[in-house]
Amino acid sequence: MHDFLYRDGKLFCEEIPVDRILDAVGTPAYVYSARTIVEHCRKIREAYAGIEHLVCYSVKANSSRAILRMLRDEGAGFDVVSGGELYRVLQAGGDPRKTIYAGVGKTAEEIRYALDQNILMFNLENPGELEVIDRIARDADKVADLAIRVNPDVDPKTHRYITTGKRETKFGIDLDQAEAVARRLSGYPGVRLIGVHMHIGSQITTVEPYVRAAEKVTAFIGLCRGLGHPVTQLNIGGGFGIFYKDKSARTMQDFSQALLPVVRPTGCRLLMEPGRFIVGNAGVLLTQVLFLKESGDRAFVICDAGMNDLIRPALYEAYHKIWPIQMPLKVQGEPPDEESWTGPSLLADVVGPICESGDFFARDRRIPPVQRGDRLAVFSAGAYGYAMSSNYNSHPRPAEVLVRGDQFALITARESYADLVRNER
Ligand code: LLP
Repeated sequence: MHDFLYRDGKLFCEEIPVDRILDAVGTPAYVYSARTIVEHCRKIREAYAGIEHLVCYSVKANSSRAILRMLRDEGAGFDVVSGGELYRVLQAGGDPRKTIYAGVGKTAEEIRYALDQNILMFNLENPGELEVIDRIARDADKVADLAIRVNPDVDPKTHRYITTGKRETKFGIDLDQAEAVARRLSGYPGVRLIGVHMHIGSQITTVEPYVRAAEKVTAFIGLCRGLGHPVTQLNIGGGFGIFYKDKSARTMQDFSQALLPVVRPTGCRLLMEPGRFIVGNAGVLLTQVLFLKESGDRAFVICDAGMNDLIRPALYEAYHKIWPIQMPLKVQGEPPDEESWTGPSLLADVVGPICESGDFFARDRRIPPVQRGDRLAVFSAGAYGYAMSSNYNSHPRPAEVLVRGDQFALITARESYADLVRNER
């Protein structure tokens, strides 16, 4: 989070005080650091420098075209899960030959669209997809390249809503069925098996589940090759955890050191689909305090942003640091840990304006005393923030701003009331 630092108590993004940005664009607003995004992308590339690899940024984490364009310029490919995400990638000048299409439920139109664009490959998420992709490819006189998404039945030890590598989840194909698919595949001339994919979950902070899953998946590659499939791509998915509260997540170097000995012997090109690792700590959501309120023994800080802007606390009880952008003490550097804050404080629920009890950013949070008009930063909101935002309660979606050094640019305008009704007939 080293591009969101306090200088004498004032929050900066890179070289700009964030209050200057808010004076221009208002609240709520997402602000991203270009430098953090690029650095995080490079961290992955460095960790895997010893092996041929391709970072396919997971568009779902933050799909703003300005961000996709930056990552394209870094040489990244993309992981998409819908026709809409593929459209965004193409609009941003992304290379379809570096784009992979995952997604549990792809429609025939989406498959056709991706084939027309000559994407790198599809991740086969269920055996029934085989017939559908094969038929569409043959109708188009093409051969679709596939990776089987294996469900390795490994517990990634993360929130149950973002666990995907366990057999009982809807994701991927368990190893027994995957073997059956690999055996059947030669009967489908419209498809070619060139890869194997796994993605066991998100916000994973330990290396051990990756290693166990990768061991199973690499063994499966051997089986596929034995059946004559030209498997050259090994996709280990995304899910690399970041620091939200504490610093317990392992570094990208830790992940690569543990994984490389397992994946290298396959001789495959290594693909990865990180989303959160690249953008999570590259963004903050900025909001303004509307009211302070007490009810019983609880205090509420009511903000102008809510669960419609950032749903992670409501949906996963996710922890995001929250601090005023102007601190009462001359805080320097990283936003402090709640526990280590010794300045004046207030214990409060930080909530939004939405008519739901689940509309909170934090419960029983110790923050400095704030007043109406003060601005707060919700940290680590670059991933699954704006991308999961909605118009619930008919709130226009917030603005998005990208900072580069001492410059900033509005990359997504705040929605207007007219935008809210634009598609209604
Ligand atoms: N690849 C696949 C197949 C995925 O399903 C996902 C995320 C990723 C890559 C990227 O995962 P990442 O590197 O960002 O962890 N909304 C939730 C996270 C949902 C993740 C869904 N799949 C959250 O806010 O925590």
